Amino acid sequence: MVVLALLFNFVFWYVTLAHPQFGKRQLLQYNSTVIDCSQFNRQEYQHTCVMAPEAIEGPYFIDEDLYRKNITEGKRGIPMDLHLVFTNAKICFPLHEAKVYVWSCDSRGYYSGYTRFNPDSPPPSEDKPPVGDSERFLRGVQRTNLFGKVSFESIIPGFYYGRAVHVHVEVHIHGKVVHIAQLYFDEKLLENVENTPEYSEGRKVNRTKNEEDLYYTRDNGKDSIVNTKVTCKDGKIERIEASMTLGIDPDHERIPIYEF
Ligand SMILES: *[C@@H]1O[C@H](CO)[C@@H](O)[C@H](O)[C@H]1NC(C)=O
Ligand SMILES: *[C@@H]1O[C@H](CO)[C@@H](O)[C@H](O)[C@H]1NC(C)=O
Ligand SMILES: *[C@@H]1O[C@H](CO)[C@@H](O)[C@H](O)[C@H]1NC(C)=O
Repeated sequence: MVVLALLFNFVFWYVTLAHPQFGKRQLLQYNSTVIDCSQFNRQEYQHTCVMAPEAIEGPYFIDEDLYRKNITEGKRGIPMDLHLVFTNAKICFPLHEAKVYVWSCDSRGYYSGYTRFNPDSPPPSEDKPPVGDSERFLRGVQRTNLFGKVSFESIIPGFYYGRAVHVHVEVHIHGKVVHIAQLYFDEKLLENVENTPEYSEGRKVNRTKNEEDLYYTRDNGKDSIVNTKVTCKDGKIERIEASMTLGIDPDHERIPIYEF
């Protein structure tokens, strides 16, 4: 018995402490199966009720009710309209009144509230660094409408040390965190964005490509690449419309984790 208990303790210690990413993680098994919506008589939602991959929250989430659609605050960068639709993947139905947080870095890789961290250097080693300034650019909250939709006016995020370009999304229902995602962009688009001065000029670090990012590869990032409609002018990207449908389980509670 003692041996078993010790063994159990060791395994527990090994899994949760030595590898906190396993102990703290509360990810649903990613399941891209299309649910048969006809069983609910909701065939029109077929192919949208797929469980979306989950991701980590990262260190820069700020839980403030910044209800607004336009989150740019005049930040330089390529304008991006972001349209997200959330469905309750268990019943193939739009998720109404879910609280959706969106946040990302600016074109130079800075996060508002954490502008003391240099995007060209490795990230802080603290688990969850305290908010350090009153900037709130590129953060916003919206509630989903009857069609499960929210829209934001933002910019394509820039890049920072060690991470693929991404937008954070977190969904709360009745005060509970039910889904945490990171949305990615097509590499071809990013190559173009990277070549514009407001994103690349004077940077001391190269952009991490999607496939080079361990979180992207581990958390099924390729299934979190937004659909984009690109508008060009004089051979340059003028703006993009990015959209995605995310099927989620509104009864699943996530424990946010702060690993970088
Ligand atoms: C994925 O979800 C579908 C529909 O709910 C289910 O039938 C299937 O067993 C699931 N697959 C896994 C691997 O969990
Ligand atoms: C969003 O707000 C910024 C100022 O913060 C403004 O310059 C921009 O025109 C606004 N965008 C739209 C589409 O209204
Ligand atoms: C960035 O990439 C270029 C070209 O591949 C390389 O020469 C340079 O050393 C890289 N810079 C850094 C900081 O890794």
